[in-house]
Amino acid sequence: MASLLVLFVFFFISSCSAQSYNVLSFGAKPDGKTDATKAFMAVWETACASSRPVTIVVPKGRFLLRSLNFDGSKCKPKPVTFRIDGSLVAPADYRVIGNEDYWIFFQHLDGVTVYGGVFDAQGTSLWDCKKSGKNCPSGATTIGFQSSSNVVVSGLTSLNSQMFHVVINGCNNVKLQGVKVLAAGDSPNTDGIHVQSSSTVSIFNTKISTGDDCVSIGPGTNGLWIENVACGPGHGISIGSLGKDSVEEGVQNVTVKTVTFTGTDNGVRIKSWARPSSGFARDIRFQHCVMNNVGNPILIDQNYCPRNENCPRQVSGIKISDVLFVDIHGTSATEVGVKLDCSPKKPCTGIRLEDVKLTYRNKPAASACVHAGGIEAGFLQPNCL
Ligand SMILES: *[C@@H]1O[C@H](CO)[C@@H](O)[C@H](O)[C@H]1NC(C)=O
Repeated sequence: MASLLVLFVFFFISSCSAQSYNVLSFGAKPDGKTDATKAFMAVWETACASSRPVTIVVPKGRFLLRSLNFDGSKCKPKPVTFRIDGSLVAPADYRVIGNEDYWIFFQHLDGVTVYGGVFDAQGTSLWDCKKSGKNCPSGATTIGFQSSSNVVVSGLTSLNSQMFHVVINGCNNVKLQGVKVLAAGDSPNTDGIHVQSSSTVSIFNTKISTGDDCVSIGPGTNGLWIENVACGPGHGISIGSLGKDSVEEGVQNVTVKTVTFTGTDNGVRIKSWARPSSGFARDIRFQHCVMNNVGNPILIDQNYCPRNENCPRQVSGIKISDVLFVDIHGTSATEVGVKLDCSPKKPCTGIRLEDVKLTYRNKPAASACVHAGGIEAGFLQPNCL
């Protein structure tokens, strides 16, 4: 009887527990010099064919990788876990991955978890190329998740991406926690985390130092929760740019909570092109934010028109409504701490400013609000509406 039970338990455990594959068994060398791309793809093909949950193990060491595409569309459906104790390193020559959209790409997966891992894209030489004004590839995003659901990313570090660090596009139910992003403050287009066309996304306990937006939120984002983030250097947390296209999905239900901005160009921002568009941004909450020497701590800019191209004398069609700014305090690096520059055609409505205290050079910061309606509550310095 007992042996039958043991046998039963054994079969039960072995059929439910994950099958584990180590990249070393597939020929990957942890020396940072031997190209491990083929070995990683071989692991993926084997994992893909399994009908049990799988764990792909990347042990300590450095693994040199060209671009990788973990595409679940032809796999047996199952949860996939990547446990990464080591570092993934892109080729030193930026041209090898520089024309790819993504360096490490996950798509068409339902249930994918990435634990740990240092993703070192070695982007500095591409930034130098871009800064010199030469003809350079646009660069690969370091990590992309597309058309996937039930995604967890925990304890991952992204270093020196060529372009964006992490992109979530067309996904549902995504949790990012304990992610670290690190790139130089003057590195071009290195957004930390970009979310678009996705629903139910959370970003917790994250530290982002980079050369562009810490978090950028694109059209079609619905249900995004950002909490406990340290941002800086960088361009802040930004909804937009919205309204680049005339037909565009809106952004709704976004909470940004307990964020510290240090030396960033902007704090919390909503930005739209000065062009007609069907898009919108509504039900947005910015709460409990600390600003340390931030260029534009609170900013709605609906007159975005870089180099005055493709939008002169036009106004934004993006409707912004029900936006809360609550408990936001600290120091502004410019005179105007609160700027709400809304569309004359679609004025902002339902703005709430509550308990805002911003100083500029030890004096109250100034404000500038146009085409913005709503209410003010609590202590306000400056007031604006
Ligand atoms: C807003 O988004 C959060 C997740 O960020 C979700 O839990 C909540 O249900 C959403 N609210 C509405 C009204 O959709």
